[in-house]
Amino acid sequence: MVDLSTEYLGLKLKNPLVPSASPLSRSVGQARALEDAGASALVMYSLFEEEMRAESVDLERHLIDQAIAQAAAAGLKTNNFRYRSGLDLYLEQVTALKAALDIPVIASLNGIGMTSWVEVGRELEQAGADALELNVYYIAADASQTPETIEGRFLYLLESLREAVSLPIAMKISPYFCALPAFVQKLEASGAGGVVLFNRFFQPDIDLETLAPIDRHLLSGPAERLLAMRWIALLHGRSGLDLAGNGGVYTWQDAVKMLLAGADVVNLASALLQHGPARLGEILAGIEAWMEAKGYDSLGQFKGILGQQPGTDTSALTREGYVMMLDNYTAQADPV
Ligand SMILES: Cc1cc2nc3c(=O)[nH]c(=O)nc-3n(C[C@H](O)[C@H](O)[C@H](O)COP(=O)(O)O)c2cc1C
Repeated sequence: MVDLSTEYLGLKLKNPLVPSASPLSRSVGQARALEDAGASALVMYSLFEEEMRAESVDLERHLIDQAIAQAAAAGLKTNNFRYRSGLDLYLEQVTALKAALDIPVIASLNGIGMTSWVEVGRELEQAGADALELNVYYIAADASQTPETIEGRFLYLLESLREAVSLPIAMKISPYFCALPAFVQKLEASGAGGVVLFNRFFQPDIDLETLAPIDRHLLSGPAERLLAMRWIALLHGRSGLDLAGNGGVYTWQDAVKMLLAGADVVNLASALLQHGPARLGEILAGIEAWMEAKGYDSLGQFKGILGQQPGTDTSALTREGYVMMLDNYTAQADPV
């Protein structure tokens, strides 16, 4: 038996496969199926800032109060009605998942400027979440925003949450930072425990018939893994943060490569949505078989061996490799 255990956000996990935020965690049954297939922890779908904005909560409450009043006027029983906000429903799901699963549950917050962050963090902690993932889904499309302002927004949110909870926090970030390693260092200094590489922005396509945007590409493709893997390799040994490889992992080979690059855990969403929770078990079995064939007894023996080793010159992994690849290019060698 090989030892697949790993540590992530201070949690001791039996293996590195962690389903990332997706609708699968909306169902306790699906979450159980993921645990049965071998998932070592579960990241929940996000609680979105928009669901908690005071004005939308007030409007929703007002509409429900109206519906209750109408039902009462029509002679219907209304004593079982209870208004539940987006936060209430999310907290109920944290509680339900914690009751149904043995594996750690990581709650996910998604927002760019929440003011009630602190209370929300505390409530998630009280509901039993084992860690938090913070997805600051922010597209820097406003030219008046400088890199400092944008980074500052992330750091402010992280620090506010850090002050409010004792739970470990992972930051799920996009690849679009011009000085990613420096930013990752700032995240560490501001109290993050891990970084998830990478968050994917919604990228609508264009329908040439209707000339309208279409949201066809919700699931990622296997090619997306390369970007995350590259940055995991570059950050490995340079950052004290735990690294989660997120994006385009479909097979056991993809997962092993992420680990060789230096990932502490490997996240999966699209592969599980497309092929079902059983895919996770197949990937796990593939990793085990590969480790046995290679003579590895534990993850620690090969995790990060193809990542950047501390003290190495990054140019070997960046420009020189690129120039060499272009020099050696032959059309036949590129499998399209
Ligand atoms: C249908 C769907 C729903 C998602 N919901 C969330 C979410 O609520 N919060 C979040 O941070 N990421 C969400 N994601 C992004 C995934 O967690 C993941 O980061 C992304 O899909 C890349 O990983 P993958 O290639 O394994 O799918 C969602 C992805 C999909 C496909």
